[in-house]
Amino acid sequence: MRYRVFRTGLLGTAKKTVALVVTALLVACAPLSRSVHAQSSESSENTLVIHADKGKDTINRNIYGHFAEHLGRCIYGGFWVGEDSPMPNTRGIRNDIVQALRKLNIPVLRWPGGCFADEYHWKDGIGPRENRPAMVNTHWGMVTENNHFGTHEFLDLCEQLGCEPYICGNVGSGTVLEMQQWVEYITFDGRSPMADLRRMNGRNEPWKVRYWGVGNENWGCGGNMRPEYYADLYRRFSTYLRNFSGNRLYKIACGASGANYQWTEVLMREAGRRMNGISPHYYCGSGKKSRSATRFGEVDWFAQLQRALRIEEIIEKHAEIMDKYDPRKRVGMMVDEWGAWHRVEPGTNPRFLYQQNSIRDALVAGLSLNIFNNHCDRVKMANIAQTVNVLQAMILTQQEKMILTPTYHVFEMYKVHQDAVLLPTELRGADYEYEGEAIPALNVSASKDRSGAMHISLCNLDPKRAADLVCEFQGTTARKVSGRVLTADTITAHNTFEEPDTVQPAVFDDFKLKAGTLNVTLPSKSVVVLEIK
Ligand code: AHR
Repeated sequence: MRYRVFRTGLLGTAKKTVALVVTALLVACAPLSRSVHAQSSESSENTLVIHADKGKDTINRNIYGHFAEHLGRCIYGGFWVGEDSPMPNTRGIRNDIVQALRKLNIPVLRWPGGCFADEYHWKDGIGPRENRPAMVNTHWGMVTENNHFGTHEFLDLCEQLGCEPYICGNVGSGTVLEMQQWVEYITFDGRSPMADLRRMNGRNEPWKVRYWGVGNENWGCGGNMRPEYYADLYRRFSTYLRNFSGNRLYKIACGASGANYQWTEVLMREAGRRMNGISPHYYCGSGKKSRSATRFGEVDWFAQLQRALRIEEIIEKHAEIMDKYDPRKRVGMMVDEWGAWHRVEPGTNPRFLYQQNSIRDALVAGLSLNIFNNHCDRVKMANIAQTVNVLQAMILTQQEKMILTPTYHVFEMYKVHQDAVLLPTELRGADYEYEGEAIPALNVSASKDRSGAMHISLCNLDPKRAADLVCEFQGTTARKVSGRVLTADTITAHNTFEEPDTVQPAVFDDFKLKAGTLNVTLPSKSVVVLEIK
């Protein structure tokens, strides 16, 4: 059995995650990435130490952010049904979706894209709906977009959800003036052509919109630019995005695709001082043999989770470059697109990216959120792609029916980490081995909330074996434990419109607390969240 040791959070002078592979029989430790002083013990137990008194960084609630694009059935046929729809709605926005999402405490919602953002012209989406011009959504299926869901509707949706808006402007095919005027239209409370236009369209008071993206994936669908060229465009566009009427903008530059570190290097060097955030994207793809969301074997399970875990290295390497130019960590890393990307469901439009969501996706979500939490000194926002009916969605709809996905349940279970203080952890855990390759079976993050309650979120990636874990608390005494678990009988388990509750959280009680030490048995393929008081 192989074991690894992970340390997360700030411990003395060492920081972030370090990993050791402890070889068979635990006779030697070999640093994987940097030199550390972790000790191997002779025991073959999984152990977790939680430093309850050493928390320093706050887990920004925006790490639990979402993303809604004009793509497939995310907006039209998802959030937006229109005011005349027989489906219960509030000003055209579907009530059951809003109700379900409110339970996640969504902190921030990114819109209108994605690739769509760089061909969207916001003025087409304001004013009386019957007068709005249509356009062709060239990225996503060449479908005609009637622009019925525009700025006012999006900001209404955010108000209904109780979240902050995050708007991504058009750099690829738009103009500086267009983006400048969008900010003025939304946020200026004085007299001006744009503010008056907003009033004419029925909104007297300006909105507050802090987060503005300056283009999306401008290395690809947003204009196929070189980083040097985009860095100059970023400098130009962002100059004209003004702070009107006390609305302080948080300007977000387009970040890299996955492991393209050169992009981050150039952007930080040329424009780092002018940005508040930079937004790398990482999709962990699908299986190895099968790209189906629900028909796959262990080979695909392993490959998918292995790729999902890679987000940690990607964050750390981008962070290293950011540290060089911004040692005080003023610039946030905003991972504003992430998640699993499977083959679309049979019989659906391939450009609509409609995919099912299984317990494997729940583990992708659980481990990714743990990794974001553990890097909250730099990661200030993350937006899973996407909220409804697209990619790794929270919610799937079929006419009036709606189901919650396993990923939804992970977001609901993990919401306890929002704005809590990250607690450093030391995890010594066994590997999950498959056909000669190995990944850590266990994955964890821990936090302490304002009331003093601690929450530990744990993933067991091994699809066959339960894991016994001994947890020790330093700096506190654990007195009371409760928990919830998300697991399933099979690796492909998922919720359907016929059987919507196949995968849902249950009370977790497979633990014993004795003299302050907690012994837990994590079921195979599970996400567990413990509350410790
Ligand atoms: O989320 C789907 C697409 O993935 C987005 O539009 C784009 O930014 C990314 O490539």
